[in-house]
Amino acid sequence: MAATVLTVASTKGGAGKTTMVMALAGTLAAEGLRVAVVDADPNRAYASWSEAAYEGAAVTVRAEADETRLATAIDELAPLVDLVLVDTAGFGNRAALLAIAAADAVLVPCTPSRADVEQAAKTLQLVEGAARAARRAIPARVVPSRLKQVTAVSRHALAELDAAGLPRTQAGLGDRVAFAEMTFSGRVPGGGEAGQEVAGLVAELRGLGWLPGPPSR
Ligand SMILES: Nc1ncnc2c1ncn2[C@@H]1O[C@H](COP(=O)(O)OP(=O)(O)OP(=O)(O)O)[C@@H](O)[C@H]1O
Ligand SMILES: [Mg+2]
Repeated sequence: MAATVLTVASTKGGAGKTTMVMALAGTLAAEGLRVAVVDADPNRAYASWSEAAYEGAAVTVRAEADETRLATAIDELAPLVDLVLVDTAGFGNRAALLAIAAADAVLVPCTPSRADVEQAAKTLQLVEGAARAARRAIPARVVPSRLKQVTAVSRHALAELDAAGLPRTQAGLGDRVAFAEMTFSGRVPGGGEAGQEVAGLVAELRGLGWLPGPPSR
């Protein structure tokens, strides 16, 4: 069976896309799933991290920011793995749009700030436009990112997402040192609160049918 293609996109820079891809890819590869990451961001943040820092179970990585080749890159990897995660640039370029069009589902990380909530809504509209153009459904959810669980700002941002009718996951990633450190250490948090948050997100995405189940041994 061909892999699930999960694209992580937001028109807002710095929303936590690459961090989410690092955490999901490392966690699922550690489970034994065959995971590929296509880095469609010309800045190659994921690809250079995986070359220079990543320590963990093997993840196949392909950097392809050229929109004329991106869909082919995804197609070539899909038969070889269980999951293709696509990281995109934070400025809504054509490669990001193609990555959305190629996806089975789209995650839109959103930090608790007004600009992020606005841009999350815009990103969901982009996904809807791509789905319409492709004449198929492309499900998408906002994933709260960098949440400071207890702050009023975080609660307000979640309330705004809900008030705007933006579909979101219940699980999200908190604003945690472990996620920031991962960019230097190369180690994806497997335990602690950060690890639990990633596990919660994985479980919710599996419930939605957006991730393959754990490998059977
Ligand atoms: N959950 C988190 N906890 C702590 N720090 C985080 C978290 N998510 C992201 N960061 C930090 O915020 C910064 C931006 O995150 P990241 O690079 O993942 O965003 P991005 O959406 O991929 O950005 P770009 O649009 O530039 O590609 C990074 O320094 C990262 O370490
Ligand atoms: Mg990034």
